[in-house]
Amino acid sequence: MTSRNPLRSPVGKKLITGITGLLLTGFVIVHMVGNLAMFSGSEAYNEYAHFLMSLGPVLYLFEFGLVAFFVFHIVNGIQIAIGKRRARPVAYDTYKSAGGMSRQTSSSRSMIITGVVMAVFLVLHIASFKFGPGGPGNADAAYMTSIDGVEMRDLAKLVEEKFSTPLYAFGYTAVMLLLVIHLRHGIWSALQSLGAMRPSLTPAVYTIGSLIGVLIGLGFIALPMAIYFNLL
Ligand code: HEM
Repeated sequence: MTSRNPLRSPVGKKLITGITGLLLTGFVIVHMVGNLAMFSGSEAYNEYAHFLMSLGPVLYLFEFGLVAFFVFHIVNGIQIAIGKRRARPVAYDTYKSAGGMSRQTSSSRSMIITGVVMAVFLVLHIASFKFGPGGPGNADAAYMTSIDGVEMRDLAKLVEEKFSTPLYAFGYTAVMLLLVIHLRHGIWSALQSLGAMRPSLTPAVYTIGSLIGVLIGLGFIALPMAIYFNLL
């Protein structure tokens, strides 16, 4: 039986995944740029993080929206992948590229894999940093600092400690490369779902999507690598 709710239709699900994906890309860009504050020094980074924390209810509202976007994005993304498999029960490893200008490349087929890895990463990432030492529910005086008489969390210390280990430095770098693959196809696919593209624009939009994905990935990778190789 087909659903009457247009948002539950395959097109509706693609739209939801696309819109939430673009909003999440916006968050990821802001987060990446925020991380770069570490290049201005530990104090600048801690002050930035402290400023975000000081937003109180505004931050909670933002975090609530973020969780909702992630949930909608992941649930609809998985449903699209399951729908595609049902409609075309050919194993992925025997699935030949459509070739030519088709974007049905390894990127689109790997969306679900990169997406699931990102979701697992996200849970571990938030547990390590947001709820790590000195974070909510995890008070630790060793991870507190004082800048101009204001007590705040020493998030810079935690970030430096984590990325001094090969596991975090190279593990994060590997996940960020998957993020590039996910964004590269995701941005194009989202714009296509939104109908923001005419076929003549396809190559340009795909190039721009790829470029944005690569820039975000490089921006994120810079910090773990700089810390690990003592370049900060
Ligand atoms: C090198 C890469 C990254 C670094 C160094 C990093 C660093 C951090 C740190 C230090 C926090 C804690 C912030 C705080 O408690 O104030 C955090 C939170 C967070 N990060 Fe990342 N992050 C990275 C990549 C990513 C990526 C790729 C994503 C998403 C795909 C992501 C999503 C989040 C989310 C959702 C939060 C929680 C934000 C909140 O609740 O306010 N991070 N990150």
